[in-house]
Amino acid sequence: MAALDAVLARIDANQEAALGRLFRLVAIESVSTDPAFAGECGKAAEFLRAELESLGFEASVRPTEGRPMVVAHAAGERPDVPHLLFYGHYDVQPPDPLELWETPPFEPRIVEAETGKRIVGRGVSDDKGQLMTFVEAARAFRETGGLPCRVTILLEGEEETGSPSLPAFLAANKPELSADLALVCDTSMWDRKTPAITTMLRGLVLEEATIESADRDLHSGMFGSAAVNPIHVLAKIIAGLRDDAGRITLPGFYDGVAEPPEEIVERWRALNFDEKAFLGAVGLSTPAGERGRSALEMIWSRPACDVNGIAGGYQGEGSKTVLPARASAKFSFRLVGGQDPQKIAASFRDYVRASLPPDCRASFVSHGASPALALPFSSESLSRAGRALQAEWGVEPALIGSGGSIPIVGRFKSDLRMDTLMIGFALDDDRIHSPNEKYELNSFHKGARSWARVLHALSL
Ligand code: BES
Ligand code: MN
Ligand code: MN
Repeated sequence: MAALDAVLARIDANQEAALGRLFRLVAIESVSTDPAFAGECGKAAEFLRAELESLGFEASVRPTEGRPMVVAHAAGERPDVPHLLFYGHYDVQPPDPLELWETPPFEPRIVEAETGKRIVGRGVSDDKGQLMTFVEAARAFRETGGLPCRVTILLEGEEETGSPSLPAFLAANKPELSADLALVCDTSMWDRKTPAITTMLRGLVLEEATIESADRDLHSGMFGSAAVNPIHVLAKIIAGLRDDAGRITLPGFYDGVAEPPEEIVERWRALNFDEKAFLGAVGLSTPAGERGRSALEMIWSRPACDVNGIAGGYQGEGSKTVLPARASAKFSFRLVGGQDPQKIAASFRDYVRASLPPDCRASFVSHGASPALALPFSSESLSRAGRALQAEWGVEPALIGSGGSIPIVGRFKSDLRMDTLMIGFALDDDRIHSPNEKYELNSFHKGARSWARVLHALSL
């Protein structure tokens, strides 16, 4: 087996070139939600296929009904060690609002900051820089002898839209995609100095509701208050979703929600989460969710409901005395524990329908539904990965939860019978999904070194 030191030295020596490769990937506008960028998603997939092929992987781009998958296989030096599946996503969120970017989102550049150099560009942290940490580790193994174990890589282009094509793709390619353990690099560190293994992700239900009333927009003086206003109806529905204590009012919403075991609560307490600093970093001061809960609980172990967008009526400059005929809003529900995504979507729709006054109709679109995920807190592979991370960062990794969702990870267990390790090097201030997204060179460099150590540790 290639000596680990040689692999690490190779990663260090490759840094310049590695950055060039990441820049080329970030420059591809692989926004998955907008069909206008489907061609760019294809380009990103092809870029990664070629990249993996040059590293000795047998790599292919596989079409789906949506964006293509990239699948790659490489044999390891030893047959008696675990076969690993690495998962990441090459798609990115839309860069909007464009005017808030200091430099164009798809022209990555290096910026000097107090905490060191960083790369700025859409998707550089979520998830292109992160997935390239693994690819660069694989490159260094390749250039110094070979991978220590058999590796399969699965990169998708629809994570940011809820991975609609992936369940069927997993089902259709079960033997090819099954391994002993899945690795995911799409999560954060605990802080700049402390690496993390994420053991919990929240689930997600995305619903769009539209309320319609009159058969046309009306003059608000001629019809106001005589005609029902769907924006008022929608506003009342939204307001009614939470009570004064911040609890979600949907019937059955908390079914399957449990307090985390004392052992986990204890561990989280020991992390000494700085709530003031967390909110202060984004210009806020007071947790706004369920009364009596800490901000960390709100994000890691409690479900939530948010309105992500609202539309209706006149949105242009100036005023218009219009009584609109329709209003709509996009809702997201973050789920924990055993909450059932289908039941929650149904409960939401029932509530909206039951809240309608005469002459109003509601229609709904689902934009995806996935359950929460909780991985074991201890296992042989977790201990090995933990020691590997400690060797790189000099501190024991934190076992953390995450407020975000990665819809497919639950399926690795339910459909492919694999456990997953989620290790990532993003920082909470990376501005993922926001303007001026960045990934620090330290994350990129030490991330690759961390994967080299983890692969080595899992192959002993
Ligand atoms: N990488 C994120 C999820 C994440 C964020 C994990 C922060 C850990 C820390 C992922 O790409 C993401 O944004 N997921 C979406 C899913 C959705 C668009 C279907 C999310 O959580 O909103
Ligand atoms: Mn991601
Ligand atoms: Mn994302």
